[in-house]
Amino acid sequence: DWTMAAFREQAVEEIRRKVGDGKVICGLSGGVDSSVAAVLIHEAIGDQLTCIFVDHGLLRMNEAEEVVTMFRDHYNIPLVHVEAQHLFLDALEGELDPEVKRKTIGRLFVETFEAEAKKLGGADFLAQGTLYPDVIESVSFTGGPSVTIKSHHNVGGLPERMNMQLVEPLRELFKDEVRILGKELGLPEHFIGRQPFPGPGLAIRCPGGITREKLRILREADAIYLDEIRKAGLYDAIWQAFAVLLPVQTVGVMGDGRTYEFVCALRAVTSVDGMTADFYPFDMDFLGQAATRIINEVKGINRVVYDVTSKPPGTIEWE
Ligand code: XMP
Repeated sequence: DWTMAAFREQAVEEIRRKVGDGKVICGLSGGVDSSVAAVLIHEAIGDQLTCIFVDHGLLRMNEAEEVVTMFRDHYNIPLVHVEAQHLFLDALEGELDPEVKRKTIGRLFVETFEAEAKKLGGADFLAQGTLYPDVIESVSFTGGPSVTIKSHHNVGGLPERMNMQLVEPLRELFKDEVRILGKELGLPEHFIGRQPFPGPGLAIRCPGGITREKLRILREADAIYLDEIRKAGLYDAIWQAFAVLLPVQTVGVMGDGRTYEFVCALRAVTSVDGMTADFYPFDMDFLGQAATRIINEVKGINRVVYDVTSKPPGTIEWE
């Protein structure tokens, strides 16, 4: 009789047996998979686990604080919060090519992670939230939060470079099972139900070159959009919803003045696995309300458009 409680117990045993009194480090992305893996491993070996959270400056509003607060204060898991925003944003300055952005972010992530691990005196094991679909599929992105880890895999070969053994307690689980396990471990419901978020973060939602000011604008617009989606009770019906800041300025009118500001595109899709997707058919009233709020509340945006492209032929992200 296979239940998640039994899985949890067995996984804890296995982690203990494998790790012994060794040290484990785990890279937290803020996604569900690495979070569940970390909490499970912490249950097994306590403070032999240290988490490393690399803040690349490309996260959404309040995201870094939420992750740090949850792990450090709520779960009492030793956590290194690496404030690497300047490193990443300086390196990305002026870069327009999406793949170069990804590679730059991946490379810096690996270098930063490695340096932090060294500061901790190294470790014997590297923990990852690899899922069963990641194990059987060699395709690059399946669409779940686990893609973060894969992307870093592709780029880094982190375990080989660092001469560490892997601990991957979720290797036999599917996404929905990870969510059940997360619930079993007491992770908050809203956290477990989070939509996927790509490893390169807002960098690939800011086509045409990233600046700190553009990231500020994008973050604010995105937060309002998601707030409206939650208030309308639509969050769980949507696979991913996010704002994209276009590198285009348009003329508008506000009061009796002319404005010349950026265009924000809103994206929302339904999907099963991220491989194909349909655009979400919002009510026009919903879109109008979200657009009005974004334009009124975000300095730097004076026009909002909705993306009605499905995948294929579009991709979910714009870059
Ligand atoms: P696309 O845009 O290819 O996205 O339709 C499919 C899913 O993958 C995510 N995505 C990424 N995830 N690193 C990641 O970790 C990336 O470079 C990346 N690019 C896209 C995207 O958010 C969607 O869930």
